[in-house]
Amino acid sequence: MKGLLLAGGHGTRLRPLTFTGNKHMIPIANQPILFYGLKHLAQAGIQEVGIVLGPLHEGIREAIGTGLAFGLRVTYIHQGDPKGLAHAVLCAREFLGNDPFVMYLGDNLLQEGVTEFVRIFERESPDAVVGVTPVEVPQQYGIVELDGDKIRSIEEKPAKPRSNLALIGVYLFTPAIYPIISALTPSGRGELEITEAIWRLHQAGGRIVPYAVRGWWKDTGRPEDLLHANTLVLRSLPPASFDQLGEVSAGAKLRGGVRIGAGTVVDDGVEIEGPVVIGSGARLRAGTRVGPETSVGDGVVLDSVSVRRSIILEGARIEGPLRVVDSLIGRNVAITSRTPLASELTLILGDAAQIRL
Ligand code: DAU
Repeated sequence: MKGLLLAGGHGTRLRPLTFTGNKHMIPIANQPILFYGLKHLAQAGIQEVGIVLGPLHEGIREAIGTGLAFGLRVTYIHQGDPKGLAHAVLCAREFLGNDPFVMYLGDNLLQEGVTEFVRIFERESPDAVVGVTPVEVPQQYGIVELDGDKIRSIEEKPAKPRSNLALIGVYLFTPAIYPIISALTPSGRGELEITEAIWRLHQAGGRIVPYAVRGWWKDTGRPEDLLHANTLVLRSLPPASFDQLGEVSAGAKLRGGVRIGAGTVVDDGVEIEGPVVIGSGARLRAGTRVGPETSVGDGVVLDSVSVRRSIILEGARIEGPLRVVDSLIGRNVAITSRTPLASELTLILGDAAQIRL
């Protein structure tokens, strides 16, 4: 069994904000989104993974390299222009050979990983396993209509959805999918749709097992999704991941799971309420309150700031008095405030933004 992790696509940057680098490398709980997919594939016993890259792929190869740190052998596959998820599979045809494979959309996060998908495949030998979960806005997803455990219809982003059961971004296929993909023509949005290929596989008599994932699942397309994903990941971290390597003053108050990276200094008078992760080389000065559900990147400086349910990327510097909530603050952002504000601020800021209040 091989893995295929997709990191190409249209919005390879998180528009409309200016974040340096590819959107799949934005950190959630201080780890690039793509790393979660790699870890899940490794946990499921997969050893060889192909990563599909689009036109803007800076930072991915540099961070993942040969995949050794994940216990994987990684091959990079250049898709170029994003012509659809099924097109990405065709680009990976040579790498995939005649093995069955787990296809994992790189901007997706799911709590339970992909081990159960692989188990189902090994137990039942179907032609495909597809992950499904109920969603609130079915028009935005591939939608599966079931009759008991039998599939009645599968449609990509239907205007009039027949169910609220969405295809999440994890699929397991055998080589039986290739002739079907090869016969596809571009959809209304100009893509070779994997959803259409799954439907045709079903119509051709292929056996597709829909697997309702347990736990949460998140597509991280928008800033608010990233923040929600950050909260979900932080809440799910095991106690062992909250190690404290930095220097915490005796007069600082820490509650719940708090990870503090090497070289980070937490001053007297700072309060941290977990779950919180703080990178290395950061400085939290007196009057600062962090958490819950907040990720603070390497080298961040917080001074007299209260911040909760937020992501602060590396090198940002916030000097209060200021209260921040539900915020995504880009790399090397500088915020200074001279007078206390009556209300909390929600800030979604791209890299290097500067604000003086
Ligand atoms: O998130 C689940 C949904 O993902 C499914 O319900 C849909 O059926 C499926 O089509 C897909 O919809 P999206 O519109 O969200 O796909 P998106 O264009 O955002 O691409 C998903 C990932 O795949 C993303 O990490 C980028 C990558 N990608 C995408 C395309 C179109 C590629 O690597 N190559 C591509 O050509």
